[in-house]
Amino acid sequence: MSDQAEQLRKVCRPGKTDQGAAKSFGKAGLSRVIAFASGKGGVGKTSLVVNLGLSLTRIGYRVVVIDADLGLANVDVMINTIPRYNLADVINGSKKLREVIFKGPLDLKIIPGGSGLYDLANLDQVKRKALLDQFIDLETEGDFILVDTAAGISRNVINFVSAADDFILVTTPEPTALTDAYGMLKVVRNEGLREKSHVLVNSTRNYQEGQKVFNGLKRVVKQYMPAMELDYLGDVRYDSAVKSAVHELCPFVISNPRSPASIALNRIAWRIAADEETVMPEKKGIAGFINRLKKLP
Ligand SMILES: Nc1ncnc2c1ncn2[C@@H]1O[C@H](COP(=O)(O)OP(=O)(O)OP(=O)(O)O)[C@@H](O)[C@H]1O
Ligand SMILES: [Mg+2]
Repeated sequence: MSDQAEQLRKVCRPGKTDQGAAKSFGKAGLSRVIAFASGKGGVGKTSLVVNLGLSLTRIGYRVVVIDADLGLANVDVMINTIPRYNLADVINGSKKLREVIFKGPLDLKIIPGGSGLYDLANLDQVKRKALLDQFIDLETEGDFILVDTAAGISRNVINFVSAADDFILVTTPEPTALTDAYGMLKVVRNEGLREKSHVLVNSTRNYQEGQKVFNGLKRVVKQYMPAMELDYLGDVRYDSAVKSAVHELCPFVISNPRSPASIALNRIAWRIAADEETVMPEKKGIAGFINRLKKLP
């Protein structure tokens, strides 16, 4: 192993848990909240959210990942950390939100969801408001707040997707993933809160395949949901570095920065950074996110 690779891997060694990492709050400014969802499970959302978050921190942004997924490969597993507290502790009042935030590699901040966010749709109004009001602290923690959601089209997932400033729909070229991606867009359209969605095609064989998948989806959306605008964020190749990163418990942009998937994620991070001022909708910050979440069922 080269010295450089060894250095990079050190970043991922366990024992770096720094829960309560939000003690010193930074400069205030509006955060951009981006939700990731897919419909079908296992298409790569968590892998892409964590690694895109790291790519954005490399550019110099402060990034917070909210883990709203109870799936098997969740965010803390991917960065080799076992958090002691999660949002369930915030809901039951034993911890403040800032006390459950922990710092991962490259100072990426993570909020472990536990059952907390999964239950958001079922919380009574008082508890829900008390939890959401604490989210305002995130405005000083992250330029980007990335929300990793669970598989499926649950009320909870739809609420996050509808409330966020931006929505990134993740799909693979598989017909089942595409059918579920389209189903997701239909529900989002019915909610009436989103006019634009970004599409990221994961696990492609080549650039052309990603483009073809996006064009196909765009055609159907244009025909049946003409008011919905789709933007193509790009594709991430099927890459063995992604699989081995999961086994090594170290995100691939750190353990294998020159792999095709890492290069793709860096390109997408730069695209998001460059387009923020031009192509992406005006951001409403975390307060906008909270207000929209409060209004949703
Ligand atoms: N570009 C890729 N190349 C190869 N393998 C990939 C790629 N993207 C994701 N994977 C693999 O697919 C599996 C599922 O990934 P991940 O857990 O990120 O998906 P998910 O959409 O978050 O799943 P869930 O819906 O269960 O939350 C993992 O084993 C991951 O390593
Ligand atoms: Mg996941």
